[in-house]
Amino acid sequence: MSNSTSSRTIPDELIEEIKSRNDIVSVVGQYVRLDKRSSANLFGLCPFHHEDTPSFSVSPSKQIFYCFGCHKGGNVITFIREIEKCTWPQALKILADRVGIQLPEPDDQAYRERLERTASLQKIYLEAARYFYHSLHSPAGDVARRYLKARAISDSTAKKFGLGYALDEWDGLLLHLRRQGLDDHQLISQSGLFKRGKSDGFYDLFRNRLMFPIFDAMGKIIAFGGRVLDDSQPKYLNSPETPLYTKGRHLYGLNLAKSSQDKRLVLVEGYMDTLAMHQAGIDNAVAALGTAMTEAQANLIRKYTDQVIVGFDADAAGQNAALRSLDILTSRGLKVTVLRVPDGKDPDEFIRKHGPERFKVLIDQALPLLDFKLDVARRSCDVHGNLDILAFQDQACTILAKEDNAIVRELYAGKVSEWLHASADSVVREIERRREGSESSPAADLLHQQLAARKKPDAAAPPDTAQPASQQATREEIYLLCFLAEHPTLWGRLEQQPVPVDFSEGVMQAVASRLIEHLAAGKPVDSGGLMLWSEALVVHGRFLTDLLAKASMKLDETFAGQDPLKTMNELVRTVRLENLRRQLKETAALAQDPDRPAEAALARRKLLEINQMIQKLRSR
Ligand code: UTP
Ligand code: MN
Repeated sequence: MSNSTSSRTIPDELIEEIKSRNDIVSVVGQYVRLDKRSSANLFGLCPFHHEDTPSFSVSPSKQIFYCFGCHKGGNVITFIREIEKCTWPQALKILADRVGIQLPEPDDQAYRERLERTASLQKIYLEAARYFYHSLHSPAGDVARRYLKARAISDSTAKKFGLGYALDEWDGLLLHLRRQGLDDHQLISQSGLFKRGKSDGFYDLFRNRLMFPIFDAMGKIIAFGGRVLDDSQPKYLNSPETPLYTKGRHLYGLNLAKSSQDKRLVLVEGYMDTLAMHQAGIDNAVAALGTAMTEAQANLIRKYTDQVIVGFDADAAGQNAALRSLDILTSRGLKVTVLRVPDGKDPDEFIRKHGPERFKVLIDQALPLLDFKLDVARRSCDVHGNLDILAFQDQACTILAKEDNAIVRELYAGKVSEWLHASADSVVREIERRREGSESSPAADLLHQQLAARKKPDAAAPPDTAQPASQQATREEIYLLCFLAEHPTLWGRLEQQPVPVDFSEGVMQAVASRLIEHLAAGKPVDSGGLMLWSEALVVHGRFLTDLLAKASMKLDETFAGQDPLKTMNELVRTVRLENLRRQLKETAALAQDPDRPAEAALARRKLLEINQMIQKLRSR
């Protein structure tokens, strides 16, 4: 490896490119075996210090690593520098080689020439954009101006996006560049704006088209798209890949959208959609430009936001390519919601027909990804207005089994079970069964299993032997469920809204999550419904329905003269604290187990977390 490469000669853009093309997970993966542990991060044995339990973590969405043991951390370049014990420029070189990027050597003649060529190409594009812009506003551009008018694109929008017009001539642009002295043969050939004629000459690629300059995020022109002014084909012509432009690495409109006040991005399909949305005041719109979403584009988005709203026309939304695009986005740690534009329209057509306000409503109603996927599945399983339950349960469980967050899985299982008229429990069981088949058991799950196994079985055996023997419920939990069911209108006014994990594992969590899901969605809830859901479920060897009924009956008496809201707030605190204490006790036992060092280390870390949560609750 050459030592002579100095980082000072490497431009920032190149360093950025090297970083973004070397995904930290795959780079670290060459040195460390990483297992998926939590929903966000991967864990493995730290390569920088000796350990038996994995405390070395990698975040795919943040593209960083950190070791909880030796506290080393950094990005992909730091990682290589540490592990290869080399200098920063050497680390850059390793990573550049890995993805086929050429680094400049000092006094590298070829490199300097490449830089110069890039700069000249940029000059050509700028000059071309000026020429197209000028043509649009010349008398010969009348036809294109009329087209814009017919499509309701205002002058100021056209200007903002630098729109232009390529005249209906064979060599308009070529002659213009020649007049500017920018007709170097090699550059003209590389620019992608010309085609080669029969006798070594060139002619304009874009003729009689509305011209869209394509900018990179920094606002430099890197390519062009051109639209016909009628129905002829191809509708759009795009300049080819060049030293400046690689397909699938850019997003149209990002140069503008990145300065929007809205911290989310709205991702749409086309040039015209982007224009129409910006014109409608939705200035965070970008377009993928005809291609399916690529990882490079997802990484690019990730630099600016962690939330993206994807706008599909409703017909295209369920298609595999569309669904794959969504998965690529989530795999980069983006929170994705999906908006569907009704009746096969694209955003531009919808805005023109119904106005911007109604489009903004669509944005606000965008569905979280899981809801969207379940919805697509439900539509695909619709047989003449009836749900094909067998087909749908299969698809729904497959979708939910891929979700890493157990609470989220449980909440959605509740929803699905209603559509299926099945019990939430059986849906949860089916989802978990599928997960077991597909996943290696991560260490955190192991801890969970250990904890579950250590729970002492109840003295009184429950009547239903199909259920685990250790189902617990505290009196406060029962009361809280009753109160919540009885006073659904107070849900929004609670100091802290309970979540399923506040309740005892198993039966209580299942019933609580169903109730909570209803309350959060504003769906009708009452004590009778609560008892229906708990039917046949057993805690402490007794039917939960019985316990709930009894508590419910005695509620007024037990809490006579107390403000229900205040009582509920106290109950939430007590239930949460009680559950944390229970976890604390179980985890503490595990943390001292000399026979299981791996679990013990994990347990000790968990102890800290639990303690912190308890402190926080107490200090309120
Ligand atoms: P659409 O066909 O949806 O076009 O293609 P559009 O953006 O709605 O354009 P109008 O409203 O008909 O004018 C979506 C995107 O796919 C790419 C373009 O980037 C376009 O904006 N595309 C489409 C092409 O590159 N070439 C084509 O021939 C068609
Ligand atoms: Mn369109």
